Amino acid sequence: MAKPVSIEVWNPNGKYRVVSTKSMPGTRWINLLIEQDCRLEICTEKKTILSVEDIVALIGDKCDGVIGQLTEDWGETLFAALSRAGGTAFSNMAVGYNNVNVNAANKYGVAVGNTPGVLTETTAELAASLSLAAARRIVEADEFMRAGLYDGWLPHLFVGNLLKGQTVGVIGAGRIGSAYARMMVEGFKMNLIYYDLYQATRLEKFVTAYGEFLKANGEQPVYWKRASTMDEVLREADVISLHPILDKTTYHLINKERLASMKKEAILVNCSRGPVIDEVALVEHLKKNPMFRVGLDVFEDEPYMKPGLADMKNAVIVPHIASASKWTREGMATLAALNVLGKIKGYPIWGDPNRVEPFLNVNIPPPAACPSIVNSKALGLPVSKL
Ligand code: DGY
Repeated sequence: MAKPVSIEVWNPNGKYRVVSTKSMPGTRWINLLIEQDCRLEICTEKKTILSVEDIVALIGDKCDGVIGQLTEDWGETLFAALSRAGGTAFSNMAVGYNNVNVNAANKYGVAVGNTPGVLTETTAELAASLSLAAARRIVEADEFMRAGLYDGWLPHLFVGNLLKGQTVGVIGAGRIGSAYARMMVEGFKMNLIYYDLYQATRLEKFVTAYGEFLKANGEQPVYWKRASTMDEVLREADVISLHPILDKTTYHLINKERLASMKKEAILVNCSRGPVIDEVALVEHLKKNPMFRVGLDVFEDEPYMKPGLADMKNAVIVPHIASASKWTREGMATLAALNVLGKIKGYPIWGDPNRVEPFLNVNIPPPAACPSIVNSKALGLPVSKL
């Protein structure tokens, strides 16, 4: 028999049983669920990553929906358990859902929610922060100060790279990639080269207009280029940020050969998913090329790092915090809860998962819709006319 898992219960007499595998930021998501007759059980286990067995125990015999996390393995076992318990709704508290086997969810008729539209700018800001921290060697310099090593200004002390006039490369110019590109172009007057299967028309227009503005003011304009291959971006850019989804085609997209094709002083940033980079090859590359720098939010075997990475001074490493602003994390919790609640209530699916502001406005009740269900077509769920 599975070991019981500790929980905190809200609205014990609620009609629908909803489980959240973690406590999440804010209280709005809790209030929205309990106001709509849900009994909410929040797992209070101390360990960070719950096992499949833990989650099966949480689901129990009767469960209408679960809010889960990207660290959990949502596959056949969990969807079967949820379906046996009468559940039809699951939402990741994340935009990415590479931890979810959507085919298994389809098989058991479970809707899978995610949380786009609320973390675009926050994630792009972290990618920009990592780019700057790597370019200007902020972490190395901070460690130097704390170690009491600073004994006076020196011409060579922590010399880094100037971004202005250099080229920023973006691989995957979707929501987050485009927001990052705009920040780097507008904030630091960098030129842009991007690779994406789809043309980023709005981004191109923005860079063109900004370039014209700079020119009209007597400044050096900025330019954009849509690369025909990813390798072109890797060869030409000075700072490269990765924004693809993780699937079979993007696993180890950045490997030994591609690292070797990049400029010796390039900066590589990854706020997407760890396995997009071959981390062993990256450590070797960082060792051999001390002027090459990297800013990483995600890791191949998260939460672990490949041997040697933690020793590299030319790596800035943070623990998967790209979406960690208060507003965004509270918004993610709200969207995840509303995905589950909406499916339980039989609401239709919101027409545009990128425009989720009506769900986030704390002054009005949210629309009667599920903000974003990734398998809505496969399950034949109706689309909202709101
Ligand atoms: C996501 O939502 O996929 C992010 O990785 C969480 O920060």
